[in-house]
Amino acid sequence: MTHPDPTTHPFEAAEASAAVLAERTGVARHDVAVVLGSGWKPAADRLGEVTAELPVTELGGFPESSVAGHGSTVRSIRNGDRHVLVFMGRVHLYEGHHPNVVAHGVRTAVRAGAGTVVLTNAAGGLRPGMRAGQPVLIADHLNLTGHTPLLGPNDDRLGPRFPDMGDVYTASLRELARTVEPTLEEAVYLGLLGPTYETPAEVAMIGRLGGELVGMSTVLEAIAVAHTGTPLLALSLVTNLAAGLADEVLAHDDVLAVAAASAERMGSLIADLVARLT
Ligand code: HPA
Repeated sequence: MTHPDPTTHPFEAAEASAAVLAERTGVARHDVAVVLGSGWKPAADRLGEVTAELPVTELGGFPESSVAGHGSTVRSIRNGDRHVLVFMGRVHLYEGHHPNVVAHGVRTAVRAGAGTVVLTNAAGGLRPGMRAGQPVLIADHLNLTGHTPLLGPNDDRLGPRFPDMGDVYTASLRELARTVEPTLEEAVYLGLLGPTYETPAEVAMIGRLGGELVGMSTVLEAIAVAHTGTPLLALSLVTNLAAGLADEVLAHDDVLAVAAASAERMGSLIADLVARLT
């Protein structure tokens, strides 16, 4: 049977992928979903016992990932009495994928039962005082990608035509995160298409617009999650100061190295959080 196409049939595609997931993992319902962004993969080992792992492509609707450091498997992890679905990487717009393909993972997670979604990413920091290696809670976003996973006829089975965006990054989850790690700061994430890092003029613009973190992911997935009404927590790991704010040339390998150095600590943070979800 061919898999429904997420670009034209996002609900059916997510439903079908969730069914394959349940069958291949032997877990009928996953309670929480975690998407691990650039360099966050080492965090996975802290999340609990891996009971199944498979390539996302086996779920249907997912393309092969093209960027070094972006994995393409999904793990089913046991954390206490919780089943956690962990995507070991994500799909980006700049790879040439349709917004619905970018959102397919989180839509699959919600169809698989996830009542909470946790998104992670690597980001450039703009706010004075931010430093590489610092985890930051995303409090809100500016979607400057020029794209949305809600383009086209609305499927009411996913959510409403005009979703409210007032509490996308669920305030109560941010509060819960701070009970685990009281030093966590919050910031506004500005999402761009990439794949270039920003010019100094763009960094100046982002600052004026109110962006405190900048990156190339997350906002489309966040919109898709908000559309379904599912609580969302998102964490950026500041891997560098945004272009021009420090005397360094930005390189993907350096971003991955900074993330790797903090990833295990981040994994413990997410694991503690998952354990405290009600
Ligand atoms: N800009 C955009 N995306 C990023 C950055 C950045 O400085 N760092 C990590 N991802």
